[in-house]
Amino acid sequence: MDTEVLVIGSGLAGLMAADLLSTEKNVTIITKSELGQSNSLLAQGGIAAVTTADDSWTNHFFDTIRAGVFHNNEELTELLVRQGPKQIQQLTQMGVQFDANPNGQYERGMEGAHSVSRILHSGGDATGKELVNTLISRVKERCTILENHLAIDLLIMEEECYGALVMNDIGETVTISATYTILATGGAGQLYSVTSNDISVTGDGIAIAYRAGAILSDLEFMQFHPTMFAGEGSQPFLISEAVRGEGAILLTRDGKRLMEGIHDQLDLAPRDVVARTIAKQESEVYLDISMIKHFNERFPTIATLCEQNEVPLGRIPVKAGAHFLMGGVATDRYGRTSIPGLFALGEVANTGVHGANRLASNSLLEGVVFANESANWILQGDPKFKTYFKIDKKLNVSENRLLINRLREVMDGLVGISRSNEGLTTAIRQLEWHGKFVEACTKEEIVHHNMLQTSWLMATSALMRTESRGGHYREDYPYQKQSFKQKRITRRITQDDWVETQERSRAISH
Ligand code: SIN
Repeated sequence: MDTEVLVIGSGLAGLMAADLLSTEKNVTIITKSELGQSNSLLAQGGIAAVTTADDSWTNHFFDTIRAGVFHNNEELTELLVRQGPKQIQQLTQMGVQFDANPNGQYERGMEGAHSVSRILHSGGDATGKELVNTLISRVKERCTILENHLAIDLLIMEEECYGALVMNDIGETVTISATYTILATGGAGQLYSVTSNDISVTGDGIAIAYRAGAILSDLEFMQFHPTMFAGEGSQPFLISEAVRGEGAILLTRDGKRLMEGIHDQLDLAPRDVVARTIAKQESEVYLDISMIKHFNERFPTIATLCEQNEVPLGRIPVKAGAHFLMGGVATDRYGRTSIPGLFALGEVANTGVHGANRLASNSLLEGVVFANESANWILQGDPKFKTYFKIDKKLNVSENRLLINRLREVMDGLVGISRSNEGLTTAIRQLEWHGKFVEACTKEEIVHHNMLQTSWLMATSALMRTESRGGHYREDYPYQKQSFKQKRITRRITQDDWVETQERSRAISH
């Protein structure tokens, strides 16, 4: 099969890029599950953007940089926040309805580490659903959509990307060749046992890009969200930070304010600080929501989830869970990776705008801003048309059959909220994998292999950063080190050698 643009993944960033490109190009979207199934769909909080006179792009910029512990790419962070208002306008024109008061002014929510209320939301706590569904209704008309198609590997010839090798919905291996390939597969939350992430988010894009020879960066920075529901025997689910933005407070088992004396922003301190404080508690932590009037109207999704789990809307038991991977496939402003023809957007990409710890509600914004940048670059370019080539590639599955539950135990315990040299070294030994070429393997085996490979990359990157910063906390190096400021740990595979480099500069140059 031939296509001009192949989008792998169907969260917000992939759908947005597909929508913009489909005006002029032939676009194919493949998704390993159903169209739209992604972390974007689950996003509760909203989208951060400056929309009022009491706010400014510089406020949003400094909030983002401070939360990111000064590890951010400042140039792209400026682009991100300056583009916010324009993106809100564009989304509205596309049909997205943000919650507004009777005078038509947007309702603005508050979340951790923001200095003002600037989070726009839809359906109370269903912003992701509104964005994704709006885009789905548009791309359905204009793109070829292939559901239950898993990308196995990228097609690389003479160090350029020409599409992907894919396992289709009936388990056959097919080649989709493309002039432009956009990876938009999301992060890696499912490598942990407690996560806010969709079941499909297993680090596939990171493993695929690594095997193809792309440069990856910042993989040691995993953000843990402080307030996942922690009821006995129930599936954890997210309780949005916007709930704390409306006044909810964290309490210890004996009813004391948890964040008192820890951080001057109390319950709205940066996520890494709150998550670590919760993780250190020996007894349960509760989120007291009793003071929020009209909770059901403001947070209908969370209220329904609480009802399904028979939790009264008072004190809700919470614990931290894996939420967002700041690192990923290194990209520039246009989403270009180190491999010509290959782009990465959304959580799988590392644009550098989140630094070491993402500011709440900046991820949907990142998805739409860089999808626009990328689409504009592609639409203005005049590349040589790449023709189909036949590839004789065998599948690579791991010999390491570490069970998924065991893999999650290793990640939770040794590559989780708190890390150490000893723990990481043990984890790496268990996660080590050795490729074995086989003729036939299943989708589950491929995903399992990706999970192992991405876990190993995260653990080995975490071992190399001998300091603590944002989402990466080392109990043996509990402070920031000046020597690590703005230093990116980058990873790249070359032939049979594993090469790990540490670079200060951006990885991409074209
Ligand atoms: C939340 O609603 O708490 C999550 C929002 C985000 O991660 O940006």
